[in-house]
Amino acid sequence: MKILGICGSVRQGSFNRGLLCAAQEEAPEGVSIDIYDIESIQPYNADVEKEQAPQAVAAFKSAIAGADALLIACPEYNGSFTGVLKNALDWASRPVSTTPLMGKPAALVGASGGPSGTARAQAALLPVLMGCGVVTMPKPGVMVRNSAGLFDDDINLTDQDTRDRIRQQVEALVTFAGRFRD
Ligand SMILES: Cc1cc2nc3c(=O)[nH]c(=O)nc-3n(C[C@H](O)[C@H](O)[C@H](O)COP(=O)(O)O)c2cc1C
Repeated sequence: MKILGICGSVRQGSFNRGLLCAAQEEAPEGVSIDIYDIESIQPYNADVEKEQAPQAVAAFKSAIAGADALLIACPEYNGSFTGVLKNALDWASRPVSTTPLMGKPAALVGASGGPSGTARAQAALLPVLMGCGVVTMPKPGVMVRNSAGLFDDDINLTDQDTRDRIRQQVEALVTFAGRFRD
C-alpha cells in the first residue's frame, strides 16, 4: 500500500514534517510513505490553469492519483491550517470532474508549538477536504502539543508515546484505505 505524506509546512525543521518522517519509520511492512514537497506549487490562478496547469501541479496530482491514501500533516497558523496547504489542495481539486482527490482516503496529523495540538487547524481542514471529495478517517487522530520538546535537533521524533500513536494511526489508515480499494 502506498501512502502519500503531504506536509502543510515548507520550513526547514518543520515538526509536522518530522511527524511524517516518524510515520515513514513506523509504517508496517508492505506500506510505503512518500513525503511530497508542496513548496514549488505556485499560487492558484484560474488563468494559468486554463492555459495549462504548471508542471509542479501536474506532478502533485499524479502523486495523489498514485497513492492509496493520504497522510496530511497540518500545522496551525492563526487558528487555522496553512495557506500553502490550502493552495496545494485548491490546485489538486481542479478540474472537479477529474480531481485525484475524489474518494481518496486520508488521515490527519498535526504538531503545534503551543498547547492546542493543531485542533483548530484540523477542524478547519475537515470541511475543505470534504469539499475536495477526500474521505477523512475519523479516528484515531494525532494532535501533538508542545512539540519542541518531543524532537531532537535533527527533527527526529524522540517521544515514544507520540511514535506509538502515529504507528497506530498508520495501521488504522491502512485498514481504512483497504475498504476503498477495488
Ligand atoms: C503565522 C503563524 C501563526 C501561528 N499561529 C498559531 C496558532 O494559531 N496556534 C498554534 O498553536 N500555533 C501557532 N503558530 C505556531 C506554529 O504552530 C508552530 O510554529 C509550528 O511548529 C509550525 O509547524 P512546523 O513546525 O511544521 O513548521 C503559528 C506560527 C506562525 C508562523
